[in-house]
Amino acid sequence: MQERTILGIDVGASGIKGAVVDIETGQLLNDRLRLETPDPATPEAMAATFAELVRLHNWNGLVGCGFPSIIKEGVAYSAANISEKWIGTNVVELLSIASGCPVEVLNDADAAGLAEMRFGLGKGEMGVVLLITIGSGLGSALFIDGKLVPNTELGHIFLRNQKNVAEQFASNNARKREDLSWEEWGIRFNEYLQNIERILNPDLILLGGGTSKRFDKYDSYITVRTPIKPAELLNAAGTVGAAIYAYQQSRK
Ligand code: BGC
Repeated sequence: MQERTILGIDVGASGIKGAVVDIETGQLLNDRLRLETPDPATPEAMAATFAELVRLHNWNGLVGCGFPSIIKEGVAYSAANISEKWIGTNVVELLSIASGCPVEVLNDADAAGLAEMRFGLGKGEMGVVLLITIGSGLGSALFIDGKLVPNTELGHIFLRNQKNVAEQFASNNARKREDLSWEEWGIRFNEYLQNIERILNPDLILLGGGTSKRFDKYDSYITVRTPIKPAELLNAAGTVGAAIYAYQQSRK
């Protein structure tokens, strides 16, 4: 039983959420705990919050962590919605030392995608499947015949003659910052999806992150021909996927 349970932590720009996950079933074994992401979101401050969340779970085993940055070999290569001090930081080392537990780290959208492909609407889907997470930023996870292409950053394509990075224009933060109605935001998000479709032509688009819960507010503005669905696991996907990833790494 012990082997099947891993603490999954979803580090986001606004909250750091964790739960113990049964990786065989994808079930959360406790109510998710959430701590505010410190501001400024520096490595030191976020590592301390991460460690606090591990401590609150009274956990001392393997931890999987989804992190809002490009992650290669444990190192962060971008920092769109967190402190720039993260760039070049070995996230695996920092979080392992801070928490006293072995930690495996991957991009947060990739984590959500792994969970949706294993337990959600992506289950059994072949072809090109794209998950887009809508939150503080726009994250992406791309799957080809069920296999993840890690670290795609499709929230960072340019829109409108190179004038707007997509996530600054069509994320949930943009909606809140500019006080957009669902119609105004939905039209923007549709423009983003049209650009994605033009260059990628996926077979299926899944929407994740908090704003996927409000799909009924904006689905009437979406005109892309690709089938598009709000993901099933909603906010829990990042937590579950982080645990799945840690498990996979531990079996290598
Ligand atoms: C980051 C991505 C991340 C996404 C969602 C973007 O700003 O560049 O790495 O997946 O936000 O958190």
